[in-house]
Amino acid sequence: MEELLKAAKLARTKAYAPYSHFFVGAAVRGASGKIYTGCNIENASYGLTNCAERTAIFKAVSEGETQLTALAVIADSPEPVAPCGACRQVIAEFGITTVLMANTGGKTCTVSSEQLLPWGFSKTDLPGKDKHHE
Ligand code: THU
Repeated sequence: MEELLKAAKLARTKAYAPYSHFFVGAAVRGASGKIYTGCNIENASYGLTNCAERTAIFKAVSEGETQLTALAVIADSPEPVAPCGACRQVIAEFGITTVLMANTGGKTCTVSSEQLLPWGFSKTDLPGKDKHHE
């Protein structure tokens, strides 16, 4: 996780956040062991902003890695930065088990994807899958 956090820290320097000035970096590890990094990318049309976590995950998936293991995210927040709801849903999709949240002050907190999104919607909720529907 140390290596992942270091990669997230470096990715943060690439954040494009001219509107919020809140710079976020993330890094995700693929099952192959490879690390993919991401930063938040804002837009003059504010709602189009992409968070650092989703940038990193989408980079991994677009490179063919759909099985991911761990993610680290860092920002200059008072407490370790918590992924937003949309990112939690995307984190849950690709098998990530461990999420390390950090702030630039050196505080960290490690949780499971399940802790981040209990009772989340997943592929098992879709018809034709294993889950029982009444
Ligand atoms: N942001 C992230 O990139 N990840 C998070 O976990 C929290 C929020 C970004 C989105 C936006 O560019 C800025 O931080 C302020 O919300």
